Amino acid sequence: MKVTTKQEYPHGEQGIVPLMPEAETRPEKRETVDTKDHRYRELDKVLDRYRGEKGELIRVLHSAQKIFGYLPQEVQAYVALKMDIPVSEVNGVVTFYTLFVTEPKGKHTVSVCMGTACYVKGAQDVMDKLKEELKLDARETTADGMFTVRSTRCIGACGMAPVMTVDEEVHGKLNADDLTGILKIYQEQDAGEKHDQIH
Ligand code: FES
Repeated sequence: MKVTTKQEYPHGEQGIVPLMPEAETRPEKRETVDTKDHRYRELDKVLDRYRGEKGELIRVLHSAQKIFGYLPQEVQAYVALKMDIPVSEVNGVVTFYTLFVTEPKGKHTVSVCMGTACYVKGAQDVMDKLKEELKLDARETTADGMFTVRSTRCIGACGMAPVMTVDEEVHGKLNADDLTGILKIYQEQDAGEKHDQIH
């Protein structure tokens, strides 16, 4: 990411535009995006389609996530600037809806159900142990990019509570001690794939 000031690069010059609206950032914190990045051109087309329609923010963000894979701060700020709304409003929507992610997703997505049936059967213990096992603090994705851990609402498998999914596979009647073995399945699977690619 390039960082510059308005004085150095007036709006639109050198293929770079400042991201944060004037009132929302100090000049030294002004962030910019490289407008030659084709993904921003794709996003511009989406923004053009919904120009002036502030009620379309969720649709715009959904498209932006499809284009970038996730919604980092610079993309949120770009959407805010182009739609002429506060970054805080965009950020509020992104953090409210669980379908939006702000970090690149790992190879495997682990979703722990936090619906009522799962919660009363120990879903929080499962989540805590999972985070400990994968050394996740506030982050959702492991340092090696292998797993992204998220919570989810009821997935309709309450009879197997507590439940988590790894990608499309459902693992039920979990207890915290099962997790190491389950994660190992995917770790070994990936190690096997790498081995096959090398030989
Ligand atoms: S509450 Fe977890 S599957 Fe229904």
